[in-house]
Amino acid sequence: MRRPVSIAPPKGKLGVLTPGMGAVSTTLMAGTELVRRGESTPVGSLTQMGTIRLGKRTEARIPKIKDFVKLAELKDIVFGGWDVFPDDAYKAAEKAGVLDSRDLAKVEKFLKTIRPMKAAFDQNYVKNLHGTNVKKGKTKFDLAEQLREDIRDFKKKNKLDRLVMVWCASTEVFMRPEAVHQDLGSFEKAMKANHPAIAPSMLYAYAAISEGVPFANGAPNLTVDIPALQDFAKEKQVPIGGKDFKTGQTLMKTVLAPGFKARMLGLNGWFSTNILGNRDGEVLDDPGSFKTKEESKLGALEYILQPKVYPELYGKFTHKVRINYYPPRGDNKEGWDNIDIFGWLGYPMQIKVDFLCRDSILAAPIVLDLALFFDLAKRAGMRGIQEWLSFYFKSPMCAKELYPEHDLFIQSMKLKNTLRWMMGEELITHLGAEYYD
Ligand SMILES: NC(=O)c1ccc[n+]([C@@H]2O[C@H](COP(=O)([O-])OP(=O)(O)OC[C@H]3O[C@@H](n4cnc5c(N)ncnc54)[C@H](O)[C@@H]3O)[C@@H](O)[C@H]2O)c1
Repeated sequence: MRRPVSIAPPKGKLGVLTPGMGAVSTTLMAGTELVRRGESTPVGSLTQMGTIRLGKRTEARIPKIKDFVKLAELKDIVFGGWDVFPDDAYKAAEKAGVLDSRDLAKVEKFLKTIRPMKAAFDQNYVKNLHGTNVKKGKTKFDLAEQLREDIRDFKKKNKLDRLVMVWCASTEVFMRPEAVHQDLGSFEKAMKANHPAIAPSMLYAYAAISEGVPFANGAPNLTVDIPALQDFAKEKQVPIGGKDFKTGQTLMKTVLAPGFKARMLGLNGWFSTNILGNRDGEVLDDPGSFKTKEESKLGALEYILQPKVYPELYGKFTHKVRINYYPPRGDNKEGWDNIDIFGWLGYPMQIKVDFLCRDSILAAPIVLDLALFFDLAKRAGMRGIQEWLSFYFKSPMCAKELYPEHDLFIQSMKLKNTLRWMMGEELITHLGAEYYD
């Protein structure tokens, strides 16, 4: 990838489109509105609160990221979305039960103006969902054409300058790449033939790329992680990325595991279990959708700990992930981890992590950051997979010949160095030998 020669300024309005207007998406919409009215603080958002050090440690140049790279401002964001339920964003947020009624009341009028467009949906891919706000079309290709029209209409109606799309809809059943995913010609043919290997999320991604709109995948679905859409994104100069927002338990895993490895502490086993009671939990109660999530959650440890490189420390660990749908908890998930580690001379120790987290409170700022960074990437002429945004994903997409980077600290360094690189600033290696000359 070549360094951007110039980055177009974020002029005009930015449309943020989310397939799925459920817990995560409506928490993002409500929260952004509360923040832009000055009623709240965007905690958890790197683009809003983060800074970046430039130059030497002695220079004290530490601007806010959003000023350094000129991100779109919150006041210029216009939200839109699709859902299989016809509820407006207020009703959907009320049902999701993430924000309390006091916060929702403040943004009720605003949220009521956001009504979902009809979804491209097929129950074969999300078994535990029964909605009525669904598009009709003879073929999957027709549905993708309708989505393209939605995008164009939304842009025109809201007088937008640019758009980004972040998948915030349900987790689809587990799918592996097939022959029809290998090139665009086969993919388009398969859409027209209603081939089962074309999931609804792929139609949104295809529509977004066709319209020159960056696409980020917040669920573990295969979606854009296939050669056909990756090549298409390159051809259309569109940034894409995924998969699966890194929020609660996996965030903790990618914080702790690099620590064990840095200190050469061994691992015998890591047992992770979750209870959650939101719609996402209900969808994940279906074994097909759970398998997609499980694969996504299992990857991180293998890549961070490198069992082949450190067979004595990480060659034999057991890693299990369980998710149980437990309605009383709603969006307030509990993630337990039992970690069996070992130290000097192989003596065993245990660590227990009990994270009483709020799923959508952790996810909403990630969606905001992704929307703003993908818009930046597009304005900078970057295209295809944006690996520098791995920081936000449980199963980061990367070039074919690479393995994904899961270590949160490496991801953070990579993200910030990419921003420095884009802006022609010196990269920071943390060597610092020059301070001791
Ligand atoms: N911490 C987190 O909350 C977190 C972390 C990682 C990933 N995710 C993923 O983000 C996604 C959203 O999570 P959520 O908690 O908001 O779930 P949710 O169930 O509250 O919302 C998802 C919405 O998507 C809709 N939907 C499903 N298929 C659709 C389609 N084809 N087109 C349009 N809409 C469709 C559903 O009707 C639902 O309203 C899920 O896939 C979830 O696995 C969430």
